[in-house]
Amino acid sequence: MAENQQNIIDLRNIVVTFDDELVLKGINLSIKDKEFVTLLGPSGCGKTTTLRIIAGFVTPDEGDVIFEGKRINDVPPYKRQVNTIFQRYALFPHLNVYENIAFGLRIKKTPEKEIKQKVNEMLELVNLREFQKRNVNSLSGGQQQRVAIARALINRPKVLLLDEPLAALDLKLRKEMQIELMKIQKSLGITFVYVTHDQEEALTMSDTVVVMNQGEIQQIGTPEDIYNEPKNAFVADFIGESNIFHGIMLEDKLVNIQNHVFRCVDTGFKHNEPIDAVIRPEDVRIHEPEEGDITGRVESVIFKGVHYEIVVNVNNFKWLIHTTKYQEPGDEVGLSVYPQDIHIMKKSRVKKYSDDDSPSINEEEL
Ligand SMILES: Nc1ncnc2c1ncn2[C@@H]1O[C@H](COP(=O)(O)OP(=O)(O)O)[C@@H](O)[C@H]1O
Ligand SMILES: [Mg+2]
Repeated sequence: MAENQQNIIDLRNIVVTFDDELVLKGINLSIKDKEFVTLLGPSGCGKTTTLRIIAGFVTPDEGDVIFEGKRINDVPPYKRQVNTIFQRYALFPHLNVYENIAFGLRIKKTPEKEIKQKVNEMLELVNLREFQKRNVNSLSGGQQQRVAIARALINRPKVLLLDEPLAALDLKLRKEMQIELMKIQKSLGITFVYVTHDQEEALTMSDTVVVMNQGEIQQIGTPEDIYNEPKNAFVADFIGESNIFHGIMLEDKLVNIQNHVFRCVDTGFKHNEPIDAVIRPEDVRIHEPEEGDITGRVESVIFKGVHYEIVVNVNNFKWLIHTTKYQEPGDEVGLSVYPQDIHIMKKSRVKKYSDDDSPSINEEEL
């Protein structure tokens, strides 16, 4: 992203309560013009509420909503240069494809010639030219969602808000639509604020990912930042399958994990400071027992199509490992990790996500 891009939206200290429940606990978020930003987090964490704040359907109890530098808390939704696509696309069932897309312009009493030209542009954009006369009920889910996208974009909003727009589609179609949406966003140069609970979708599509949990932002960064340098155990665990260890920083660049001292690259911790260490399954190397830093026994091996997913038991902690080399269950193996692949994180303030169902979270204290 270029340095000189203006923020199109700033949320400052946004607090929302519903029925005495704090739903957003002071959200601060800046979105640049033409950026593809994704709000990612588990169900109920406040993603939709954040979108509704931007759209103007929810008024915050505290904080400011800024659009192009101006406070818009009191501007009603229809006067904001923002449009929303919902998971349920609510097309007009009595109108055909063309008229569904034209609807917003007809309301504004746009001249017929201009309507025709713009609708045709949109039909082209979403690949529905030959479907323009069709009744929307006769379309597939994917085609209906394309109509919804065209309808939302025809007024050329500066910002498009998308709330889990692909969640109802099957996996193959979802992947296709992800790529199409990215192309559309880049070709029109419209800011997208996209909501999903699907980490892979967020990492694939976005310039910036905003990870949320329980009404708070946990981390804002590029997909690479979020994946490679998760700020706390919640982010690490939510973003991908990881091995998360309780560890102790002995000094700069030396960490004790499972009673073995590993070299790492992190500095700035106190002597004997407890930390969380994250090691990705694909970053663990498997050797002969005598060549590894630590040893364990292969507990299970599952072929995943491209790699094997292997569980190695080291003193009752189950390391999750992805490797292309087959290992024999029951064999003793050595494990090692490059220093730069050990990610040290400050102890998290928040509860971990899915503590109970991940095989790779070590709850024992050292
Ligand atoms: N209109 C509402 N009235 C009361 N509670 C609400 C309302 N909308 C959302 N909530 C609550 O606010 C929290 C966040 O909801 P939401 O923003 O929809 O989360 P997400 O989109 O991340 O799943 C949830 O606990 C939800 O039950
Ligand atoms: Mg939601």
